Amino acid sequence: MKDRLIIALDLPSTGEAAALTQRCGETVSFYKIGLQLLPVGGMELCEQLRSDGKKVFLDFKLHDIPTTVEKATRSIASRGGDMLTVHAEPPVMRAAVAGRGDDPDLKLLSVTVLTSYDDAMLTEMGYRMGARDLVMRRVEQALEAGMDGVVASPLEASEIREKFGDDMLIVTPGIRPSWSGKDDQARAATPAYALRNGATHLVVGRPVNAAPDPAEAARKILEEMDTA
Ligand code: C5P
Repeated sequence: MKDRLIIALDLPSTGEAAALTQRCGETVSFYKIGLQLLPVGGMELCEQLRSDGKKVFLDFKLHDIPTTVEKATRSIASRGGDMLTVHAEPPVMRAAVAGRGDDPDLKLLSVTVLTSYDDAMLTEMGYRMGARDLVMRRVEQALEAGMDGVVASPLEASEIREKFGDDMLIVTPGIRPSWSGKDDQARAATPAYALRNGATHLVVGRPVNAAPDPAEAARKILEEMDTA
């Protein structure tokens, strides 16, 4: 279960992030480094964590012209990481697959629809379909492009599993144990719900990284995951 819980290091500095990983100790084996840490030493922290035996999810959500995405993916693969996200547009995803080359260690994940978006926000942005339909369309396109899996809301995981089978990774943020607040996550669910619905990995941020005792919070989540 431990390797299926990914704690988001959404903190302002690598020093604070490293301190959090120390406090989590052996309880946590997988961390997510995102855009907040990338400009301030995120890749160095990634290398450090991997040399300490931890896994690292690089949530950089690449989105650019294909040649740039391909080169960026190649650069990232050369530094090492266990998972990398790109936006789920077919040219972007195909470029990432090309840039990864035959590095089997770096799993590529498509960001379908951000879990902070609901249907009203998608309409405001000019989309003609709701979150659910857009997610399903993007999952299909991700698999066609050769991606390893998707990032999706726990509320969509079971439908994705049913439609697209067991081989793909489904990484779900928007996880909120019953004892924590929802913050800005519009489509949140509990850890047990996400697993029962087919998620392979859960991404948890504030319920752990802002907890008074992060190791204890992570342990409680792992216990809940075990019940599922
Ligand atoms: O604090 P919280 O648990 O809401 O953090 C969720 C993490 O997952 C954040 O780092 C956020 O950027 C990320 N994420 C997300 N929704 C996505 C993709 C990533 O919330 N669709």
